[in-house]
Amino acid sequence: MSDTVPGHSGPVSDRLNVVVGVTGGIAAYKAVGVIRALVLAGHDVHVVATDAALRFVGRPTLEAISRNTVHTDLYEGVAEVRHVAIGQAADLIVVAPATANTIAKLAAGLADDLLGNTILASTAPVVIAPAMHTEMWRNPATVANIAILKSRGVTVIGPASGQLTGTDSGQGRLVEPDEIVAGALAVLRPRDLAGRSILVTAGGTREPLDPVRFIGNRSSGRQGLAIAIAAAARGAAVTLIGANLEIAVPHGITVLHVSSTLELQDAVALAAPSADIVVMAAAVADYRPETVADTKIKKETQGDRLTLQLVKNPDILAGLSATRTAGQVIVGFAAETEADPQKLLDLGSAKIARKGSDYLVVNTVGWTEGFATETNTVVMLDKAGVIVMEATGTKSSVAGRILDVLA
Ligand code: C5P
Repeated sequence: MSDTVPGHSGPVSDRLNVVVGVTGGIAAYKAVGVIRALVLAGHDVHVVATDAALRFVGRPTLEAISRNTVHTDLYEGVAEVRHVAIGQAADLIVVAPATANTIAKLAAGLADDLLGNTILASTAPVVIAPAMHTEMWRNPATVANIAILKSRGVTVIGPASGQLTGTDSGQGRLVEPDEIVAGALAVLRPRDLAGRSILVTAGGTREPLDPVRFIGNRSSGRQGLAIAIAAAARGAAVTLIGANLEIAVPHGITVLHVSSTLELQDAVALAAPSADIVVMAAAVADYRPETVADTKIKKETQGDRLTLQLVKNPDILAGLSATRTAGQVIVGFAAETEADPQKLLDLGSAKIARKGSDYLVVNTVGWTEGFATETNTVVMLDKAGVIVMEATGTKSSVAGRILDVLA
């Protein structure tokens, strides 16, 4: 554990003691994802579940995923004064999902269960991720309770809009687990990117062949999106250019959707001049079909073989590096299938020299690695090809480490 953040007693890095409060809504099953992401990021997670939460998600699941005993009962472990001990030991408390009932109890300072006691006995930052039906979220009682909690410094993440439990949709959906974890951990971090604008490209380009087909790649956009989310949490004004993103973009991040490399190039040309930092995390096609057919290419007219003529795409990163504005920091990515670590570094060094960016984040990809997964392993090189950072973990923890270098 290291330095503390002004106004909070908690540390900003390393292994944190995180209490995850799980309360009784249908979204409780998603708490498993929150706990898992925190554990994978190296934190010690202690679950305090309400009785109602255990009607939705089983204790064995919570214990297996958190790797710790789950606490529910106020009258267990009385000799070790558990009702205050858990809260006192916490560096961070995350309540996900937070039901309208729990929000009301927290606003009133009630301590009729272990979670209420834990929160009252703690000086750690508290983050809540509400989940409920739209009507309950908009009810003046809930609105007032949320205002009270915010005025006391509680961080409220979400709720998002989208499909709710039934057939209805609207605001009230629990924010996705990775986003909750990124937002919660950000509370312990300094807002060291405040006043900075950052442009992030994410996803994978698609080069059209005809109105129904394209040449694409397997990038989901998760790593780029994690960087955008983490940068926003650290105070940056974030613009995301998403190429065929497979995942939803949270509120608070301006997003421009593009598909092909040429569209991405136009969007970057528009957004880059006003950015202090540009992170080119998108997987961009090196080639595109020379011609795009107006109508569907038919096998009846092509026969047994079809030859596609491809032409080279512009290298957006290299162009950006060559025309950067004064003081602008440019970060490239390199996804490589090279398994040998030394050869991978050599490829990275040659690539950064060719592209002219300030940093290059190198990762290995393969049939099962890198793309569309929740985790990543990266090496970050500077202009001279020197390693400035190495990280393995969830894409959001890797995002944090990349931003540590940039900040
Ligand atoms: O050359 P390679 O595709 O490995 O380089 C990867 C980096 O360059 C990524 O940051 C990617 O966004 C960027 N790139 C680009 N334009 C291309 C190809 C890649 O900006 N045509």
